[in-house]
Order: sequence, then C-alpha cells, then structure tokens
Amino acid sequence: MIRSPIITVMVNAARKAGRALIRDFGEVEQLQVSLKGPANFVSAADRRSEETIYQELLKARPDYGFLMEERGAVEGKDTSHQWVVDPLDGTTNFLHGIPLFAISIGLLKNAQPVAGLTFNPVTDEMFVAERGKGAYLNERRLRVAARRDLSNAVITCGIPHRGRGDPERFRRELAAMQEKVAGLRRTGAAALDLAWVAAGRFDGFWEHGLSAWDLAAGICILGESGGFTTDDKGGDTMLLSGSVVAGNEFVHREMLAVLKSA
Ligand code: IPD
Ligand code: CA
Ligand code: CA
Repeated sequence: MIRSPIITVMVNAARKAGRALIRDFGEVEQLQVSLKGPANFVSAADRRSEETIYQELLKARPDYGFLMEERGAVEGKDTSHQWVVDPLDGTTNFLHGIPLFAISIGLLKNAQPVAGLTFNPVTDEMFVAERGKGAYLNERRLRVAARRDLSNAVITCGIPHRGRGDPERFRRELAAMQEKVAGLRRTGAAALDLAWVAAGRFDGFWEHGLSAWDLAAGICILGESGGFTTDDKGGDTMLLSGSVVAGNEFVHREMLAVLKSA
C-alpha cells in the first residue's frame, strides 16, 4: 500500500463512507421484499456517501476543486487540483442487493489523473495508485495480466441502459468481440471493471457513454499497473468523451481493431 499523505486522505474518506454504505446495503437487502422497494432509500445512501467523502476531502485539502456525481462541480481556490468522485458506482447492483459496487475517488492535476482509489467495501478490496508510485490492491502490488491473445482473454464491457447511448453500435461491437475472445462479462460497475483489469482478473474492458467520475481513478490505477487506457479511437479523450478501451498493450491494441471493424 502507498502511505503518502494524499493516499491516506483518500483511504480515510473512502473507509468512512464505506462503513455507512455497508450498513445501508444491509438495509437494502431487507427492503427488497417490501412493496415500495429500496429506490428512494438507495438514492439517499448515495447522497450520504457523497457528503461524507466531500466533507473528509474538503477538510484535508480545503483549496482543491471537486467534480462529484450528485453535487456537480465545485470550484476550488487551487484550480490545478480537482477531486473526481463517484460515491457509489454500481447503483443498480446495490439496489438489487448484488454485492458488486464501489466508491471511486480520482485526483486530477492539470486535468490529468495523478491518484486514484476504488474501494469495494463488501470485499474490503482497496485499489489505490499514485502516479510514479505504482498501484496496489490492499498490500499487494498490481500488474495487468500478461495474455497476448484475445482468444485467451476475458473481457468486461458496459451495456447501454434502456433509452441511453447507442444500443445498435453496442450490439455490433458485442458480436465482433464475441467472435474473438474466451469470455465476455458485464459487472455493472465501471470503476471496478477498470480496477479488475489492473489486477489481471479481466484482460480488457470497453464501454461508451461513461462519466469522468466512473473513469478518473481507474485510469490512474491501470496506468500504474502497466495497462493502457484510451478512448475508442486510441486517443486520450476518455474523461471528456466517456469512451474507454483498456487492457495490456497487446489486448488493448487488438480490442481497438475489433471495435473499429464493428
Ligand atoms: C454506472 C456503472 C455501470 C455503467 C454505467 C454507469 P452508476 O455507474 O458504472 O457499470 O455501465 O454507465 O453509469 O450509475 O452505478 O454510478
Ligand atoms: Ca458510476
Ligand atoms: Ca454513482
């Protein structure tokens, strides 16, 4: 684990918010069986998590700016630093009692990710990275998987929500990818998809229509694990365009070619 001041600040904020999310997740499991369902309760849990992270980060770095999923942008005195926060990635999973969700905190310096944290409080898996200092899962140093061929690769992806994105394009990409890979997955938490590529569990990931808070932490974590993250054209507009293709050097290159052909 990296024990720098900035990572300590991020870890403390994530642990505090994570404890509350775990309590709320227990409640959601009860609410599943009620007629009203847990939807309102979950949006309140999401906002509570964001408020906790916001207050913790603000206390530690009062001048930094923020981009948060619920609160939006908050300008700081220090315009070169910005926290990019998803207080609950994998909301649909959380809502359905599926224990696959995370808190994700990225730090941008001059619009580039320089630190990242993705925390799954259910499994107690804390993925962190800082530029130049490597990426870790708890105490273990991370490295992307070494597979060189898509034919052996397990690839995770994002499926556009009903009424959003470009479902036709997704179906073309899925068909093209399915012809080439060993297996396809969909977790429902983009921040975890990226962290799991960094940990070598998945060999690659692609999705379109994401937001900066889904990606900022993961881009740093993957970069520090020796992975490649680009947009769908091989450029670096991920945070602005919301398109992402990730993997090791070989898998990433092959994925770009397959997606282009689709
Ligand atoms: C969503 C998840 C999901 C992705 C969606 C995101 P949320 O984030 O990351 O995997 O497919 O596009 O919006 O809404 O659960 O924070
Ligand atoms: Ca998200
Ligand atoms: Ca979210």
